[in-house]
Amino acid sequence: MSVAKSDAKRVTTHVLQEMKLKGEKISMLTAYDYSMAKILDAAGVDVILVGDSASNVIAGHETTLPITLDQMVYHASSVIRAVKRALIVVDLPFGSYQGNSSEALRSAIRIMKESGAHAIKLEGGVEIKESVLRILSAGVPVMGHLGLTPQSIYKFGTYVVRAREAAEAKKLMEDATLLQECGCFSIVLEKIPAKLAKQVTKELDIPIIGIGAGPNVDGQVLVTHDMLGITTEFQPRFLRRYADLSDVMHKAVQKYIEDVKDKDFPAKDECY
Ligand code: KIV
Repeated sequence: MSVAKSDAKRVTTHVLQEMKLKGEKISMLTAYDYSMAKILDAAGVDVILVGDSASNVIAGHETTLPITLDQMVYHASSVIRAVKRALIVVDLPFGSYQGNSSEALRSAIRIMKESGAHAIKLEGGVEIKESVLRILSAGVPVMGHLGLTPQSIYKFGTYVVRAREAAEAKKLMEDATLLQECGCFSIVLEKIPAKLAKQVTKELDIPIIGIGAGPNVDGQVLVTHDMLGITTEFQPRFLRRYADLSDVMHKAVQKYIEDVKDKDFPAKDECY
């Protein structure tokens, strides 16, 4: 890939590390398609996550488990074409990296080669150590994901806050330290007590991005469809809605239908 001059201001994993050192918060949001990614990048978001939450918000599945590697490559390629500045991280989907580090490497390489993404994210700690090391050995930057890891939802059985108990909190801290030692450039902490997230952020050198992990982390991530109010059913405490686009879109579509039925659309100046 030729590094064009316009790439000079791109957010890189090194930029995120500098932001942590300077105490500058990192903003991260999800995108799965060209149009949304273009809006997020133009607004100045630092990191765009092509999350496997596409399985929920785009495909309408109940969990993130059904989405495939082919589908993630498709979403990531669409996002990549829109983005000039943000760092693009892509989730490795369920079943593409657990328990087999060779397959994990193949999956990560497919994402990087076929979409042009900048980094990958995977869920878990010590259980996926071999996969993490193998992917990193190929020069692919890896973001970890601990706490509530939606790909393990059938193991947890519930979406409640994780690591409230001392033993689970201890394991989370050990996993976070391990991921840093392996060479991960950042970790997402999902739905854990704010106090624990603060401790992890303080003890680790790499940037920690929280979702439902309180304010004392290095950055925040939300699912864009949730924070824009495109989805309406999902209402966890940590979610702040910045718009009610579902309502805006509903009203716009109703007005369009009305205009079509009333023969008000198209008007003379909308014709050739
Ligand atoms: O898939 C996703 O959107 C995520 C975020 C919730 C961090 O992993």
